[in-house]
Amino acid sequence: MLDRLGRSAKVAVIADRLVADLHAAALLEAIDRPHALLTFPPGESSKRLDQAAALYDELAARRFERTDVIVTLGGGVAGDLGGFVAATWLRGLNYIQVPTTLEAAIDASIGGKTAVNHAAGKNLVGVFHQPSGVIIDTDFLATLPQRDYQAGLAESVKHALIADASFLAWHEQQGSAILSRKARVIEELIARNCRIKAGIVARDEREAGLRMLLNFGHTVGHALEHLLEYELRHGECVALGIVAANALACARGWLAPTSVERVRNLLESLGLPVRLHRAVEAETLLSLCRMDKKVRGGRMRFVLLREVGRPEVANDVQPREVARALQAIRLT
Ligand SMILES: NC(=O)c1ccc[n+]([C@@H]2O[C@H](COP(=O)([O-])OP(=O)(O)OC[C@H]3O[C@@H](n4cnc5c(N)ncnc54)[C@H](O)[C@@H]3O)[C@@H](O)[C@H]2O)c1
Ligand SMILES: [Zn+2]
Repeated sequence: MLDRLGRSAKVAVIADRLVADLHAAALLEAIDRPHALLTFPPGESSKRLDQAAALYDELAARRFERTDVIVTLGGGVAGDLGGFVAATWLRGLNYIQVPTTLEAAIDASIGGKTAVNHAAGKNLVGVFHQPSGVIIDTDFLATLPQRDYQAGLAESVKHALIADASFLAWHEQQGSAILSRKARVIEELIARNCRIKAGIVARDEREAGLRMLLNFGHTVGHALEHLLEYELRHGECVALGIVAANALACARGWLAPTSVERVRNLLESLGLPVRLHRAVEAETLLSLCRMDKKVRGGRMRFVLLREVGRPEVANDVQPREVARALQAIRLT
């Protein structure tokens, strides 16, 4: 893949320190040209402009040029931050995503959304910049802690809910094989998720409409992530966001109560939270939902399900509906 991007290109591998220690050596060995390893502290708090600036300093010191290449190695944080640096340094370098979490393999590495967070909310500063390639090697997942693995499953359930009812049933049938990480099942899970995500992005790269559906569960999810100061994993917040969105849809008479229950049971059986572990201010959460990137003219927009596999964007969601839906995840 690197050959396609130019024989003389230098390569910067961007990874958090934890992933770098575990997996960078194997990757660097396979890169047969000048390269550098640039690292940053693990965790969501590294998705910040000043962390991007520190990486620019390192690229400048190593005289990285337009034709050089960035490889992001790691989870969604490395992909979003490294991708943002690739998109903005010298107005854009080619980059390759090498995901090492399930979250990144089935979602974050695909589609070209790059971003850092802002004090006002998550992913508020970013650009669309497609990677030149995504290399998924399931061997990387061997070292991934079970909690992070399970968090990634929330995005898989999300993809099933918005695009493929039979895939939701597959999760129910394969539950224990998914949790015990059977190789055959992981491969099928990754392949099906990549097809769903890439299929949606290919039809609406810049989120003019269809791509918005991928935000299912993320309005409340992102608000929670921010409010809890990244104490929960992204996927865990998405699971809670899905439960809240389904409660909202149900209260409108869209999604049947049996489907709401079915999804909650599935998330729970996959080890994902469906209730908050501590009290949060409903008012604050609501005001964070209003910072969501889907808000238009001050009005909140939610992706909601009519039924499993049939999502729709609701343009007229009222604050009191959201406040009520938040009860489903037991807020005070
Ligand atoms: N751009 C997109 O389209 C998109 C989509 C979904 C999520 N995201 C973003 O992705 C981020 C979440 O991604 P994540 O859950 O992968 O988080 P992450 O990158 O922080 O990884 C989670 C933790 O796992 C560790 N880790 C990574 N790979 C490992 C491995 N193989 N073995 C052991 N430890 C490993 C990391 O060091 C980190 O501590 C969020 O910031 C979210 O906004 C972006
Ligand atoms: Zn997500």
